[in-house]
Amino acid sequence: MEDFEIEGVTVRAGQMVGASPWVSNRIEEDFEDPERFDLTRYLGERAEDRDNPWTWIPFGAGRHRCVGANFAMMQLKAIFSILLHEFELAPGRPLEEYRADLSKMVIQLEQPVTIHYRRRGEEVVQ
Ligand code: HEM
Repeated sequence: MEDFEIEGVTVRAGQMVGASPWVSNRIEEDFEDPERFDLTRYLGERAEDRDNPWTWIPFGAGRHRCVGANFAMMQLKAIFSILLHEFELAPGRPLEEYRADLSKMVIQLEQPVTIHYRRRGEEVVQ
């Protein structure tokens, strides 16, 4: 193992290097107004997830990119299309109150997420 340099940064032999979607998803050159929840950023010509394969990385990137990515996306669409067809969902508390807990390898929220759901046409269940 040897030291090497990439884009002006020296990586020492044996040093650990990590990639973080939390960081890469906030790169403004690739994601316009990154903190804004804006699903349209992925649609049509904007397709911000396609612009740079190294910054939109929920399934990793490169040689070891998730082999189940397409299957997972299909499952997500199948599950959510039924859920959203059958139920109305609403956040249980104002979204601004949520804070991320960055202290662990897998980033999660500091507090549990509560969701109010209602089968379309019925009363609210909490
Ligand atoms: C939402 C669901 C999923 C997410 C977020 C996810 C995410 C990931 C990530 C981040 C990696 C590491 C990629 C890297 O090292 O660059 C990975 C690898 C992998 N995933 Fe997934 N994955 C999902 C679903 C699946 C499914 C459904 C399968 C199989 C049916 C699968 C099979 C694999 C395999 C075999 C690897 C190792 C690939 C390799 O090392 O060459 N994943 N996944």
